[in-house]
Amino acid sequence: MFSDRFDWDQGSNALSLLLEDKKRRGETVVDLTEANPTRVGLDYDVDDILAALSQPAAIKYAPDPRGLSIARQAIAKYYRERGAPIDTDALFLTAGTSDAYSILFKLLGNPGDKVLIPRPGYPLLSYLARLDSLRACFYPLRYDTAEGWSIDLDVLQALITPQTRAIVLIDPNNPTGSYVKQTEWKAIDAMCHRHDLALIVDEVFYDYGAGGAAGSMPAHQNRFESLTFVLNGFSKLMGLPQLKLAWIVVGGEFGLSSAARSHLETLLDFYLSVATPIQHAAERLLDRRHAIQRQILSRIEANSRFLEERITSTVNCRVLQREGGWYAVVDILDMVSDEVRVMHLLKHDNTLVHPGFFYDFNREGFVVVSLLPGEDIFRSGVSRLIRRYGHK
Ligand SMILES: Cc1ncc(COP(=O)(O)O)c(C=O)c1O
Repeated sequence: MFSDRFDWDQGSNALSLLLEDKKRRGETVVDLTEANPTRVGLDYDVDDILAALSQPAAIKYAPDPRGLSIARQAIAKYYRERGAPIDTDALFLTAGTSDAYSILFKLLGNPGDKVLIPRPGYPLLSYLARLDSLRACFYPLRYDTAEGWSIDLDVLQALITPQTRAIVLIDPNNPTGSYVKQTEWKAIDAMCHRHDLALIVDEVFYDYGAGGAAGSMPAHQNRFESLTFVLNGFSKLMGLPQLKLAWIVVGGEFGLSSAARSHLETLLDFYLSVATPIQHAAERLLDRRHAIQRQILSRIEANSRFLEERITSTVNCRVLQREGGWYAVVDILDMVSDEVRVMHLLKHDNTLVHPGFFYDFNREGFVVVSLLPGEDIFRSGVSRLIRRYGHK
């Protein structure tokens, strides 16, 4: 009856069953996986957001497959302010970044074709590829205690076959928090150019550099030879995932990017999935992004500092280097498996963390925590984690 697209095991796993059970019994669980910005006690200007969404102009339906010009101009202004000016004609709006991936996978791949995605990385991505009948192949990020994370360019190159259509870079990557380095940009642009691959760059966490650090947004500066698609949206940039506004910026080689723009316009015309009120609200909301970004950044910094302090009091745990994003990776040296650890923590300490295997780490021992929870909640969860698994 149904297609093979979602024939993976969709049953509840032991962890989610235990969590449901605890919630049913009314137990309070300290959730260190919480990454929904609207549920962590941030102070949103509710009246202003609602006023921006209720402009009279939003009552008129006059769709443009690329997105309304007023919204695309607002987004172009954001890039100008970031020092990476773009052309509004290069912008295409979507209802979320997942939606943008889906459109690009339709644009670039035939059924069975491959996209290369980072490992460890964003768990949804391989499923998104699969739902569009593509195969996701993983290229590894390597960790070095002194240098931090880097892309294994040799393996990436070796994974390219005639069926490969695109390389996905997440800048900074989720959950490793690593930005793409200058040498990596150069090498990957050349690889894509040489093999006729598109480069998809996901910048949803871009504005959340640790200690003010950030990458250099080179994909926007028309320095790339390969066809590039840069993704971002309100979900992380504004901390407003429910408003469902994201976008694709098309760049790179002129002939290819012109053809891609024309195809994207055709594709998006079939869906017209972005609601009108959010497009009219975009400029007003983007102008106020610093208010929410400041709160998110200060939350991340405070939680990250606490985590570092507590971890240094142990001899068997370390926090991996983080350049940006909303997550921290803790490496725990002991003989406990990931599965046992996360179950045990939830069962006995009422604390929920992500196991490393959720993000496809190459070995056991990693725990991923969101840095967004309120500071008291975060401190309590981290203290329980360390009490249970940290050795003095
Ligand atoms: C790397 C990355 N890209 C995209 C998304 C999803 O964004 P959206 O809510 O716009 O679909 C996430 C969500 O966590 C993410 O981690």
